[in-house]
Amino acid sequence: MLKRVAILANGGDVAGLNPVIRAIKRSCEVHGIECYGFIDGYKGLLENKFIRLDFNHLADGILPKGGSIIGSSTNTIVFHYKVTNPDGTVEYKDLSDLCVQNVMKDGFDCVFTLGGDSTQKSARDLFIKGIKTIGVPKTIDNDVACTDITFGYNTAVSVAAEALDRLHTTAETHHRIMCLEVMGRYAGWIALESAIAGGADAVLIPEIPYDINKVAQSIKRRIARGKQFSVVVVSEGAIPKNGQASTFNSDVDNGTGITVKFAGAGDKVAKELEKLVGLEARCTTLGYMQRGGTPTAYDRVLSTKYGAKAMELAMEGKFGVLTVIKNGKLDYVPLEEVVGNNKELGAVEGGTEDSNVRLVTMDDELVKTARDIGICLGD
Ligand code: F6P
Repeated sequence: MLKRVAILANGGDVAGLNPVIRAIKRSCEVHGIECYGFIDGYKGLLENKFIRLDFNHLADGILPKGGSIIGSSTNTIVFHYKVTNPDGTVEYKDLSDLCVQNVMKDGFDCVFTLGGDSTQKSARDLFIKGIKTIGVPKTIDNDVACTDITFGYNTAVSVAAEALDRLHTTAETHHRIMCLEVMGRYAGWIALESAIAGGADAVLIPEIPYDINKVAQSIKRRIARGKQFSVVVVSEGAIPKNGQASTFNSDVDNGTGITVKFAGAGDKVAKELEKLVGLEARCTTLGYMQRGGTPTAYDRVLSTKYGAKAMELAMEGKFGVLTVIKNGKLDYVPLEEVVGNNKELGAVEGGTEDSNVRLVTMDDELVKTARDIGICLGD
């Protein structure tokens, strides 16, 4: 019998977190189960900081609200946690036992982990250590393994598509090439889908290394047809053929030792196209606009379905699993499948290029559709 459950949101925020929290909380209210939220993701689990959510005014009216009412922490990996000693030296410690103790002490029968690949890797590891976890796939990047779609993705695509509509009119007016850099690290889903939704002329994704000359030629062909402007979507992780992604090493260690950030891919493409094509080029980086703000109706429904399914699984006693959408149907898979070959307990591989993430494949319908209508993919 389920008595008390807790929710945590971990990793970069997305629109749709609050609707998942709301669905779990409402389902708890229907079934007379106490519902709690850990503050700031795995950090809250570690520090044992949580608030009650069921029948709490703080958790009312959150369906259209962006962000997360219980916060979220990026890159907090309890198996490899940054600890600063009194003498200023830094150490990474495995504090997972502390999390297990907290959950046992507080009597949580289930912990719902809302997050991407890294969060679900920890959820699987904590499940092995004895915490009854159930994952819900979140990320704007849409790259969590085993599911067709993550919540937050649709909102990000909608924001990018709207940006492209706006860039189109200014590109046309000033006879410019407008590049839009969108998020997505190793996966080109946001770039590809928004390029189709926003009528872009070219799209560069990490999965297809690009030849800038091919992009320039396609824009020149447009000019020859009388189109004195072009709109190009560039994924932040886009890679030139025989080159590397545009990254920089941040001085700020976000807690895991991972300091590599993506930045500059769109600017690089804009500068090169300006030289090669001879039209003025500009770059707009969409950044965190894709993550913030109100969720689309699609994401509200998807998040609600995911939250309700997660609670159903908890009540059936199915733990160590992830709620997924497979061929349009709500389902679940073991977290063991989600981590793929990344089996080592506590391995800090979530969120990196070695993670088990779902990338765009060359036979995907979106790739085919883009090619069919003449969108240049840079190859
Ligand atoms: O994984 C989601 C994501 O939005 C990526 O697309 C992006 O590279 C990253 O988060 C940025 O994260 P941060 O909040 O650490 O800057």
